Amino acid sequence: MDKEKHRKPRIVVLASGRGSNFQSIIDAGKLGKLNGEIAGLISDNPHAFVLKRADKYGIPKIVVERGAFISDEDFQSGLIGAAKQFCPDLLVLAGFMRLLGKNFLNEFKDRIINIHPSLLPAFRGLNAQKQALEYGVKYTGCTVHFIDEGMDTGSIIDQRVVPVLPGDTEEILASRILREEHVLLVECINAILGGRVKRDGRKVTIIGG
Ligand code: GRF
Repeated sequence: MDKEKHRKPRIVVLASGRGSNFQSIIDAGKLGKLNGEIAGLISDNPHAFVLKRADKYGIPKIVVERGAFISDEDFQSGLIGAAKQFCPDLLVLAGFMRLLGKNFLNEFKDRIINIHPSLLPAFRGLNAQKQALEYGVKYTGCTVHFIDEGMDTGSIIDQRVVPVLPGDTEEILASRILREEHVLLVECINAILGGRVKRDGRKVTIIGG
């Protein structure tokens, strides 16, 4: 039997912090609801809680600290080297707080996705939930998109809408959005690895989704 053909798609997660989205991918795998397996975790933060989650489930991890490299280019090479070790089919940025450079994007072309806590293109960058509250929108949400060279500008794969309610604080809104992130991210991973995502420039279609 051709082992390569029958192996499960390999997912590599990049995360810098708490890792609740990483956990949602783990949980989907445990329930048999993931179209692949988590091959490894990469973090730029040696103190991130997400590393403890990887340990708990025996998921291989690599820490690539920016401070260990002189230039950003070297750091990017470090990240590429780490990712290659896991032979990824899909790279998932789940709260990864570094911009990926050209070389990284070229190496894993069209195989990198990110989850962002707003309805893009609104509220790109940091503190998207705070931005939404300050702007006074009635609805916000979350977006999964392919990565390009910009900050949260890549083609949108799918989104989920979340209402902003009277009395919401940043924390309350963030946790309401996070519940939807956990569902959306796994759905998008499964659609991509199931071959159901078609791209035509910026327009992405999920077949049967
Ligand atoms: C999430 O809100 C995600 O959308 C953003 O960073 C946060 C990461 O949360 N990119 P967690 O570490 O997955 O809990």
